[in-house]
Amino acid sequence: MEQFNIAIDGPASAGKSTIAKQVAKELGLTYLDTGAMYRALTYMALVHKLNLEDETALLNLLADTEISFPSNQGMQHVFINKMEVTEVIRSKEVTQNVSLVSSHKNVRKKMVSRQQKIAQQGGIVMDGRDIGTVVLPNAALKIYLVASAEERALRRYRESIEKGMQVSLEELTADMIARDNYDMNREASPLKKAEDAIEIDSTNLSINQVVEMILDYAKNYQKKV
Ligand code: DC
Repeated sequence: MEQFNIAIDGPASAGKSTIAKQVAKELGLTYLDTGAMYRALTYMALVHKLNLEDETALLNLLADTEISFPSNQGMQHVFINKMEVTEVIRSKEVTQNVSLVSSHKNVRKKMVSRQQKIAQQGGIVMDGRDIGTVVLPNAALKIYLVASAEERALRRYRESIEKGMQVSLEELTADMIARDNYDMNREASPLKKAEDAIEIDSTNLSINQVVEMILDYAKNYQKKV
């Protein structure tokens, strides 16, 4: 049987990674958070104080940066070479700079090639911005997950407060909208819905409801093949 892949794209904080992780677990598939890969490179670039406009410098850094996702008791961790970066790649500084780093065409090419290699190892659920359009154009199921900007900012705000972070809802909303605009308007594979993607608006849905919807789509697809 052909490998079963699911692509989940959408704007920031639409719930993609939480949902993708649960769907992968239910279906026994691998999960890959492609945003974490761009975040890992951004983190390294900030540590090395690189000029984030300098694509060649970023490419040289990426060549020396092995990004891996070992899992431990069901929790996925992010490592750069031998260093754990699971938490630090979620910092405000990384979040504010990751759109610029991920806008470079050749950086994207290298990341896409790494992502496609990981997908060759078996069925996968991948979340990001260009999965249905570029990384897995033949995915069996493509989901475009959206939610209102207010709801997405509120979710991110609650998450941050839970982690004990000091954040302002206004600042968080403004940063999120700026990042979405940047991701949707960049030249290299901007965030957009693939023509054959199913759009789900999660504004008034719980995580479990969205997971169930995707599992239903997956079951229906598998029945057809
Ligand atoms: O999903 P996230 O918020 O962790 O993603 C971080 C950034 O990485 C996001 O602003 C855009 C970029 N990104 C991308 O360009 N392509 C992907 N496939 C995943 C993320």
